[in-house]
Formats: sequence, C-alpha cells, structure tokens
Amino acid sequence: MTDTDTRASLAAIAVDALTIEEAQAELERLAGEIAEHDRRYHGEDAPTISDADYDALRRRNNEIEARYPELVRADSPSANVGAAPLETFSKIEHRVPMLSLDNAFTDEDVRDFVGRVRRFLKFDPLMGALAVTAEPKIDGLSLSLRYEKGQLIYAATRGDGTTGENVTANARTISDIPHTLKGDVPEVVEIRGEVYMAHADFQALNQRMEANGGKVFANPRNAAAGSLRQLNSEITASRPLKFFAYAWGDMSKLPSETQMGMVEQMAVWGFQINPLMKRCETVEDLLAVYHGIEEDRATLGYDIDGVVYKVDRLDLQQRLGFVSRSPRWAIAHKFPAEKAYTILNDIEIQVGRTGALTPVAKLEPVTVGGVVVSNATLHNEDYIKGIGQDGEPIRGGKDLRIGDTVQIQRAGDVIPQIVDVDLDKRKEGAVAFDFPTACPACGSHAVREENPKTGRLDAVRRCTGALICPAQATERLKHFVSRNAFDIEGFGDKQVDAFYADDLVKTAADIFTLEERDKQSLTKLRNREGWGAVSAKNLFEAINAKRNIDLHRLIFGLGIRHVGEGNAKLLARAYGSWQAFYEAMVKAHDKDGEAWEDLNAIDGIGHIVADAVTEFFAEEHNREQLDALLAQITPKQVEKIDASGSPVAGKTVVFTGSLERMTRDEAKAMAERLGAKVSGSVSKKTDLLVAGPGAGSKLKKAEELQIEVITEDGWFELVGA
Ligand code: IVH
Repeated sequence: MTDTDTRASLAAIAVDALTIEEAQAELERLAGEIAEHDRRYHGEDAPTISDADYDALRRRNNEIEARYPELVRADSPSANVGAAPLETFSKIEHRVPMLSLDNAFTDEDVRDFVGRVRRFLKFDPLMGALAVTAEPKIDGLSLSLRYEKGQLIYAATRGDGTTGENVTANARTISDIPHTLKGDVPEVVEIRGEVYMAHADFQALNQRMEANGGKVFANPRNAAAGSLRQLNSEITASRPLKFFAYAWGDMSKLPSETQMGMVEQMAVWGFQINPLMKRCETVEDLLAVYHGIEEDRATLGYDIDGVVYKVDRLDLQQRLGFVSRSPRWAIAHKFPAEKAYTILNDIEIQVGRTGALTPVAKLEPVTVGGVVVSNATLHNEDYIKGIGQDGEPIRGGKDLRIGDTVQIQRAGDVIPQIVDVDLDKRKEGAVAFDFPTACPACGSHAVREENPKTGRLDAVRRCTGALICPAQATERLKHFVSRNAFDIEGFGDKQVDAFYADDLVKTAADIFTLEERDKQSLTKLRNREGWGAVSAKNLFEAINAKRNIDLHRLIFGLGIRHVGEGNAKLLARAYGSWQAFYEAMVKAHDKDGEAWEDLNAIDGIGHIVADAVTEFFAEEHNREQLDALLAQITPKQVEKIDASGSPVAGKTVVFTGSLERMTRDEAKAMAERLGAKVSGSVSKKTDLLVAGPGAGSKLKKAEELQIEVITEDGWFELVGA
C-alpha cells in the first residue's frame, strides 16, 4: 500500500477502534487537512469541501483527542479556540442578567462601600449591625445553570451578561454540577457560580499536553475557559473542571432571606460552596477576613483574585438595586496587582479632546503578569514631581526623572501605573522633568485653572487654544466617529487626521456635508492617494447611514466631560428626544429651576455630571456647532423601557414628605425601574404625588392642580411591591 492509501484507509476506521499509533497518524492527517481547508476557505475564499464535511473532520479530530488527550498536537485544530468553533454554540438569553462587580482596591474603598450602602438605606448605627458576607473571588468563568423541577435544563456562559452560550452538554460532564437537585426544590432554580481548574489539575494537564508536544495553557483560568468552550463535550469531560456556586438568577421561590442562607441552601441541593465564606458585622471584620484569605491565598489550591463582599439581607439587596451593570449591594476587593521593574525611557505629553495635557511614561518594554507593558500613566505634573502645590509630598507622587529605574504595576484591565522608583539606581546628573507650559500641539499657553470654590489649582494643565488647537479638534472628532459613538465605517483616526490637515473636516457637521462639498470640489475624494471611486462612494454611504443616529450615541459622541456611555444612556432615556434634551440642558444652566432639579433627579446622574453637561450647552460656540450638526442629522427618539404592566409607566411622579419604608433614592430608583419619570417639583405635568407625613407646599400645590395624591403605603399597593 502507498502512504496515501494507508491514510485513506485510516480515515475509515471508527474512533473507538483506532490503536494509539493509528490515532497519532490520524491526528496528523486531520491537522494537515483541516489547515489546508482553512487556508482555502479564509485565504482564497475557495473552499473545496462542504461545511458539513469540514465539520465532520473537526468532530473526528476532537473525538480522537478526547480519547487520547496525551496525543493532542501543538498544531491541533482544536487549539484554535476563539475562531470557528465558538460560532457554533447556540445562544441563550439570561432571564435575569448576569451582572458584574465594582472593584475596591484599598481598605478605604471598602469603608466607602459600606458607608455608601448605609447612607443609601439610611441604615444608621442605632438600627444595629449591617451584616455583610465575605468570600473568595474565584478566578475562573461564570456559568448559569437552570433547573426546572430539580432537573438541569441548560447551562449558559455569561456572554455579554444578557446573552450567553449554550454549553449544557459540557457542563453535564463536570462532577460538581448536579444533574438532579437534592431535597426540597422550588419549581425553577437558576444557580450561578464559577467554573475553575485547581492548580494541581492544571499542572497535570499541562504536563500531559507538553509531554506529547501539545500546546500548554498560560494559566488555570484560560485552561478552564478553553475546556468549557469545546464543541466536543468529550474533551470537556477529559478536563478536570470544578464549580463553586455563589449566586442565583431566576427563582420561582427564594428559600432564604439572606445571602448566607441561600448559599447554605445550595450546599443542601448538592453544590460545592466555598468553605471560606463568612458573615461579618463590621468593616473591620470584613477586612480581617480579606487579609486572612490573602495570607492563605498560595495554599488554597486554586486561583482567586480578591474577596467579594455582599450585603447579607436579601430585602436590603432588593432595595439597593444596581447601577449600570453592577449591584449596589456587592463589591469585589481585589488583591494587589503584579509588579515589575523597568527603565523610564521618556515622558511624552499627549493632548486630549478637552485640552488636558497628559504625561505618559514611555518604558523599556517589560512583562508584567503575562502582558508586555511599554506605556504607563503619569497622571499629571504634580505626580511626576512628587510634590503638591502646597509643597507637601503627594500620595503616590514620585519625583520621576528620565532614565530612572521604576516599578510598574498592572491590576486587571486598569492602565499600568508606576508605583515606585529605585533611587539607588538613579543616574548621576538626572534632572527633574520640566513640564511644558505651552501646548505641544498648537503652542498656546497651557495653564492650571484655579478652582473658584477651593482656591486650589486644578491638577491638570490644559491647553487654552480650544478652537485653534488641532490636537483637541482631532481628538474630539476621533471620539465622535468612534465605535460607541457614530461608529462610521472607514472613518477612523487616520482619516480624521488626514481630512483635518487638508481642511476637509474641521467639525462634526463637516462630516455630513462632505459628499455635497465633494460634488462641487475640483479635488475630489476619489482622486486622493489611496482612494478610488468605490472607496469614496462607500465612505459617503457609511456616513449617510448614520444620519439617523441613536440619541445616546449622539450624546456620548459630543465628548462632554464626565459623560461616558453609561451617563449618555441615562440622559437619552430620561429625555427621550434630542429636542427635549437640548431645551432642558439650556434651561438647566440657571442651576435653580425645575429643569436643573429634573436633571439632578435622574438616578445615576450626580452634580458633577449635571454641571459638566449644562456648562457644555451654555457655551455659545458649542450650541452653534450643535445647530450645524443637527441640520444634517435626525437622532432617533428613545423607545420607552418596556415596563408594560406597570401602572406608573410613562407617568411623572413626585415624592414628598418623609418616607418611612424607603429612602428618597430608593423611591426614585424604584419608580424609574417601573418606567416612571421622577421629578423634584409639582407642576401641571405631574401625574402622581406620593406624600409622606410632613408634606407641605408640594402637597398643597398638587391639591390645587387636582393631581392624584397617595400615601407611601398607597404607592406600594399601586405598584404591587
Ligand atoms: S457575585 C451580582 N461572587 O466575578 C453579582 N462573583 O466581577 C454576581 N466571581 O462575573 C457575582 N467569584 O464571574 C460573585 N464569589 C463570587 C465570585 C464572583 C468570582 C466573578 C464572576 C463575576 C465576576 C464579577
């Protein structure tokens, strides 16, 4: 038989019947063949087999690997996680979104967290202890398990928090995940927790793979993720995955009134729960648990990256609700980040879209926690000097000089920071950094404004050349066309710089008049270097496609200070239309009347944001630019949140007097969740006044205007809470 014949005949043998030698030869054949098909498909756009046949090749490869994990090759097609295979998991929509957690980094942050919770709930010390649980934050990937009548129905990854991947077959292979729950079980139970790999199992798996020339995983988290997201569940079955239960989603009935009670119940149902979880009554106790777990971290046998604190009482969790994507009732206290030493080669000054001069450290590249770092933030000039304006050393400030040996820290996805300087290694003659007082982009004076309230200088030096500074203008435009704003295809940083330099696009409105002007122009876009008729037409189409923009994208795209995506969404939802938003912001500038109060009454919008937005609209130049832009585009109206069935959806509600069952913040958050708009004052537009004891002028006014008035109890009855 020829070599080709042997190979062809191997392909006919069932996976179960292959000897180890045959399996090895077959894996080699499959790796080559699949790679060749990938090349034809992706590289040449000319596949030579059907999708089904291609899938069959991959499936066979995975099945052989599951049977002989020690034979997995370095170039195995199954190592391509993240590419093709993930496309094929079906999607599952989470009935209750899977939230993420806010982070705390210092003991002080934890005190702030507990303080915030107490203030929100008006939970003063006289009301006794506020119990909070503390438990390890497992470094794996989260999974949601749905049980109906005690039987596992599906398992879904977190995905984007709203929709995850259906990994049920794989989850069933994990021995910590029961197929049937024990004991008394509600009709619907959704358990959430973390899939992870223990250190010993991770090392053994990597050794097995390495010995056979296969690829190794960088860390247990990647190994757990790569193993759970396998299309072939037999491979998952061969990987030693574990699961800790710590939270829940959709539940037909809650078996306990506390976080601790719920988790203990999970153990009764048959889950593994973390033995280090504790219930604490003071911040000091929480911190003691944190530092204790931190000390034992190396001996736990699995990776953790912090400690999670959760308010214990579920009724309080309910009252606290969540902000954006994180609950107000929980926080993750992260362990300190990984560190490394390197050289500070240079300090570069970048000019942002608000004119802020930001120093950036250019570093000799160094690996910190598995990632190569070559830039770090330097915050501002005081930070580089290490001395504040009052001559006192500043917290975190370093007296940094070019050429210094510095220690870099990376924490999660936070921008790397310089945390220390090794003064023993400082070169002789190293001079202090001279922070520029002129903008490096336009030469205008760069100044530190004085805060009129405190008399102190702003930490940030800003370019005063607002309208003439090309760096500010181009940064603003880059932000305007960026992915979460207008997201104009084919219009990125490169095009902004080029069009700005050639006077084609100086303002946002110019983007939308580009096509019209191009028709009249002698130097047409299609004749520019690197452009042609097709690319020019595509760009105009991409621009036109964004004339009907979502309101929140427009608001975000304006680049107003402190208005990120989250705040832009809050504002868009609160005002519903560009017209309403624009008029309200102009009116709110008096910082006194109803418009100002309404703005501040939006849940999640604080006075810093309110100030920034109204300042932006008060600027005549900004209004002129907005008018020009709005002549070109038609922002969409915001569809009201589906609060169908809610008796207060779309109504304007005012709360007055003292409330006894909830705080003002909670009342507002609750009403907004139910689709109502909460206002601070009574007017003809008010639909409902909720009046507690001591209500005065607002109650009187409501009665005059014949507006419906109810008590706090009446409110709970109305909304059925
Ligand atoms: S609670 C609503 N508890 O951390 C709160 N999360 O940053 C839901 N995680 O996606 C999460 N250990 O994957 C919670 N003991 C723990 C955790 C934990 C790890 C992960 C989880 C979540 C992420 C949030």
